[in-house]
Amino acid sequence: MKDIHVQAIRVHAYGGSDQLRLEEVPVPAPGPGEVLINIVASGVNPIDWKIREGFMQRPLPYIPGVEASGVVVALGEGVTNRKVGEAVYGAVDGSYAACAVVPSEHLFPKPTHLSFEEAAACGGAKTAWGALFEVGKLEKGQRVLIHAGAGGVGHLAVQLAYHAGAYVIATSAAENAAFVASLGASEVIDYKIAPFETQIAPVDAVLDTVGGDTLDRSYQLVKPGGVLLCLVNQPSPEKAAAAGIRAVWAGTKTLHAMQEVAKLLDKDLIRPYVRKVFAPLSSAAAAQDYSQLGGPGRGKIVLKIEE
Ligand SMILES: NC(=O)c1ccc[n+]([C@@H]2O[C@H](COP(=O)([O-])OP(=O)(O)OC[C@H]3O[C@@H](n4cnc5c(N)ncnc54)[C@H](OP(=O)(O)O)[C@@H]3O)[C@@H](O)[C@H]2O)c1
Repeated sequence: MKDIHVQAIRVHAYGGSDQLRLEEVPVPAPGPGEVLINIVASGVNPIDWKIREGFMQRPLPYIPGVEASGVVVALGEGVTNRKVGEAVYGAVDGSYAACAVVPSEHLFPKPTHLSFEEAAACGGAKTAWGALFEVGKLEKGQRVLIHAGAGGVGHLAVQLAYHAGAYVIATSAAENAAFVASLGASEVIDYKIAPFETQIAPVDAVLDTVGGDTLDRSYQLVKPGGVLLCLVNQPSPEKAAAAGIRAVWAGTKTLHAMQEVAKLLDKDLIRPYVRKVFAPLSSAAAAQDYSQLGGPGRGKIVLKIEE
């Protein structure tokens, strides 16, 4: 397939969204254990513009994007768990492209009740599941505070914690409060009207998807022996020790987390909310700018690649 070329966005130098270039690239061939998919939709995540700005380095040039939905078009040697023609979704490195090669265990059958756009927007669930349950050991009946309960990760974290039987408190702007409550939050705290720490009784766990000042003000809310989970910054061991809590960076992405989330999505117990769809692939820069600068919002941003 080396002679066949397809469209992809590539980054040749770190910088602004003008670095996202629409180019023709050769179709990759799946190796052993890999699958080639035609991508229908790609999730657009904050990590995409953070990498583009050089926050995390990748060998240049690279194709952005970390999650997608699509259709299987070829199987590498030894792949028995996927079929050609199957609609799938999952963790896809280089998802701003017409096709990509993916380890077969990173892909799951797309539930028929989810659109391709929705299926491309589930990645935050595996991050949230790993943080809440693998790292945080969250249990039924415990009180959990989820910062940015309307966000791409937060709106899925609220649903996961609710379905696990936790008492869910979430922060959001007032205009997103009803949305966050509908996902399972028993208390929705308007973080703009007053400092959130003055509005919440102590909790067993905090999931912080905001970082910075929000992280700094969250140690005091965790009960002694509880846990502060952050997806954005490395928490301070000194502040954790002073508060008598565990505070950890919780950005794991295990296969187990992906499998557990897939089961919940299959049963329609959690559902991604798509805030805005950008199309076609050439609108990648607008999609990343919207993710970075788009202001208040809820759910996920998606880049539609193929009808
Ligand atoms: N470490 C990892 O593995 C990992 C994985 C995924 C994401 N992340 C990081 O986690 C962060 C969130 O990702 P995301 O995809 O959820 O982002 P996102 O969808 O862009 O989050 C935007 C949301 O944040 C809310 N928000 C902004 N400031 C807030 C504040 N001070 N308090 C409460 N809510 C606030 C906004 O809600 P309102 O409109 O209600 O204000 C908005 O809905 C990013 O920094 C991302 O890079 C890390």
